[in-house]
Amino acid sequence: MSTRRTPEELRSHQWYGTDGLRSFSHRARTRQLGYLPEEHLGKPVIAILNTWSDINPCHVHLRDRAQAVKRGVWQAGGFPLEFPVSTLSETFQKPTPMFYRNMLAMETEELLRSYPVDGAVLLGGCDKSTPALLMGAASVDLPTVFVPAGPMLPGHWRDEILGSGTDMWKYWDDKRAGLIGDCEMAELENGLARSPGHCMTMGTASTLTAAAEAMGVTVPGASSIPAVDSGHDRMAAQSGIRIVELVWQQLTLSKILTAEAYEDAVATVLALGGSTNAVIHLIAMAGRSGVELSLDDFDRIARTVPVLANLRPGGQYLMEDFHFAGGLPGFLSRLTDVLHLDRPTVSHTSMREQLDGALVHNAEVIRERDNPLAEEGGVAVLRGNLCPDGAVIKHIAAEPHLLRHTGPAVVFDDYKEMQRTINDPALAITADHVLVLRNAGPKGGPGMPEYGMLPIPDYLLKQGVRDMVRISDARMSGTSYGACVLHIAPESYVGGPLALVRTGDAITLDVGARLLHLDVPEEELTHRRAEWTPPPNRFGRGYGALYQDQITQADTGCDFAFLSRQGDVPDPYAG
Ligand code: FES
Ligand code: MG
Repeated sequence: MSTRRTPEELRSHQWYGTDGLRSFSHRARTRQLGYLPEEHLGKPVIAILNTWSDINPCHVHLRDRAQAVKRGVWQAGGFPLEFPVSTLSETFQKPTPMFYRNMLAMETEELLRSYPVDGAVLLGGCDKSTPALLMGAASVDLPTVFVPAGPMLPGHWRDEILGSGTDMWKYWDDKRAGLIGDCEMAELENGLARSPGHCMTMGTASTLTAAAEAMGVTVPGASSIPAVDSGHDRMAAQSGIRIVELVWQQLTLSKILTAEAYEDAVATVLALGGSTNAVIHLIAMAGRSGVELSLDDFDRIARTVPVLANLRPGGQYLMEDFHFAGGLPGFLSRLTDVLHLDRPTVSHTSMREQLDGALVHNAEVIRERDNPLAEEGGVAVLRGNLCPDGAVIKHIAAEPHLLRHTGPAVVFDDYKEMQRTINDPALAITADHVLVLRNAGPKGGPGMPEYGMLPIPDYLLKQGVRDMVRISDARMSGTSYGACVLHIAPESYVGGPLALVRTGDAITLDVGARLLHLDVPEEELTHRRAEWTPPPNRFGRGYGALYQDQITQADTGCDFAFLSRQGDVPDPYAG
């Protein structure tokens, strides 16, 4: 190929291959690492960015997978070097790993820029890891392959199959309603998550890794391979082989993460009935790629794609079923009319060639076009005087009778107040009320915690109520469900209209009309706005201070303003 690089054109050549003292020193230090000159000189240096950690059950197998990637890199004639990077554990990290997504993005970018790296393999999958790694890599724009961590095995309890997250919420509600006791809960604790790997429902992790595969930054079929399947090792080795060739071909990330690729990622996410978190992450990723992607693009594309994946929380099955039903290639083969197929991918073939021959083996898991789970994509974008810059709802995971509803608001000023008072009978909440949580947005949360599936009061659960209209500036776990309006922008903490709602105000949700309306006269809202005082800043120093200074609102992806700006960063060797 005419664009094929020579060894002297490799970026790492500046570190290792020139005549000066610095090159001598880098070679001497590589001898110190135990490598012979012929093991690395003139070869593409491949950074393997590993989000493995003892505390991250979703990534605990990635230490082994990095070895498989290295195996592939060596065999293809590259020089692999593993870099440990921050781990974002959805389960353990507080206030939420969303608070640290941009930190991992920044770490990814600066590591790749500052070291002698020619290409990168990124290992991750737990929720925010995928966007964080790809955002950072997109800003550096080296050849890059993403290795998704893979879903954990299906959960089991007695004769039931369990979805991590989804069934945790369900059984927790059953416990609160007095339907099951401590013995059952102890068994559930053992059965809910029974192998390494990310959540095996179509939660945020599966949604974002599927988006990565749809965009073409993984090898084909990678995203649904169960984390502990031997096929996952083989996929990792194949990714190592591929990245070396991508470096020689100069197939940089920006040639893959195009505007068309982002459109296809949106279509994929919506047809999967994927997580609402994908809206924020894909907008942020697109920003790093210099691609304009807005909330309105999601709503537009949602009207053109049906939901075809019968996966929890919206459907019935789990990721292992999806994998054996044909995985993402099978799934995408049902959407070829809406996808841009002549795009390059990391596999040296166009998306069209990749999908050629892809089959669906189970039409119950991956539905036919004429038998969808929903006629339209899973996420709707709402507008109205409560959310001038937009809000989202995953309407396919809500009880249909709530999709057009007017009810009186019950307002909670923050999460702690809600926890303290939600079960207080004095609030006299009925199934018709609209639960409102504020100060849970990007700045107010901080980090937009996944508080958006507000709990239904115990006394209503006992009456059999399982869904209510709930609105907030928070996010919701990709494994959650219900009539939850999320991501209200601007958020209440910065003075968005959500800050002005009072208990008893009527709120109308009309998903068909894409409307969220606060039924209070404009003069009254003006009056309330004049009375509103901004809350004090939370952080006096540290990362939190940087965060509160730089975080952008949900409709623009919650990136840091200084990271999402376009502009050049000098090459470290230029100075
Ligand atoms: Fe890691 Fe769900 S906790 S993906
Ligand atoms: Mg999650």
